[in-house]
Amino acid sequence: MDKINNPFLLEGKTILVTGASSGIGQEVAIQCSKMGASLIITGRNKERLEETYNRLDGDNHIFVSADLNSRDDRVLILDKISQIDGILHAAGIMGTLPFKFASSEKMEEIMKTNFFSPILFTKELVSSKKINKGASIVFISSIASKHSYYGNGLYAATKGAINSISRVMALELSAQKIRVNCILPAMVESGIEDRLGSISQHDFEVDKAKYPLGYGKPVDVANASIFFLSDASKWITGTELIMDGGFTLL
Ligand SMILES: NC(=O)c1ccc[n+]([C@@H]2O[C@H](COP(=O)([O-])OP(=O)(O)OC[C@H]3O[C@@H](n4cnc5c(N)ncnc54)[C@H](OP(=O)(O)O)[C@@H]3O)[C@@H](O)[C@H]2O)c1
Repeated sequence: MDKINNPFLLEGKTILVTGASSGIGQEVAIQCSKMGASLIITGRNKERLEETYNRLDGDNHIFVSADLNSRDDRVLILDKISQIDGILHAAGIMGTLPFKFASSEKMEEIMKTNFFSPILFTKELVSSKKINKGASIVFISSIASKHSYYGNGLYAATKGAINSISRVMALELSAQKIRVNCILPAMVESGIEDRLGSISQHDFEVDKAKYPLGYGKPVDVANASIFFLSDASKWITGTELIMDGGFTLL
């Protein structure tokens, strides 16, 4: 009997994952390797990146420690890549800053990491012709781009910019059958909650109660990422997938 053709598998695909040294990007890389992909993983922290690398299934993977805000570091990654079939952009920074404290320095800092760098890096990959026909590009955006939270304006703006440009990229890259989609998670228990020092445990519990299905896990985002990176979604481009456990239904 013929082996069932499973369109969700990533066998034969090489996927680049940014932000793979922690949280969502780390889990995406691990789950993609379980689905048969070869991974190129990147992040700034070499030790944590190596830890991700050691947790990947199979042995056809590479890791490159790099700061995506540095053009030289992006070239370093480009030089290690021959051809890729997918990119999962998870590198990003969060942060809460009420609008009245906005400054050009703060805006530049968050815009650089969350918008300029992933877009410039994608452009550099496209220009180098290292992205195969039929490839899939996925941005981890955020529900913050749709739903207002106090103090979240600058972060929300970076993710809104990603959503907007990704629709145009989807159009412009369609000639090469390259797809571009965004995933918009609400709160994911990626460890980030421990690092947002300004939020108390009590406030977290109050917030969590607003989620009919509770907070998300990195593996939830990884599963959706696999769908977008696989041929199972080959007719889907320019979309935004909200993943929020029902948070915005209320
Ligand atoms: N967690 C959530 O609730 C949530 C919800 C919605 C959207 N998101 C989005 O999901 C993505 C991942 O979030 P996370 O929760 O997994 O956060 P995380 O654990 O802090 O991971 C962020 C990753 O981005 C990397 N990174 C940051 N700046 C970089 C730079 N200049 N160059 C290269 N790598 C850089 C970090 O690398 P190093 O650690 O090595 O520096 C790390 O691997 C972000 O884009 C975030 O906005 C998260």
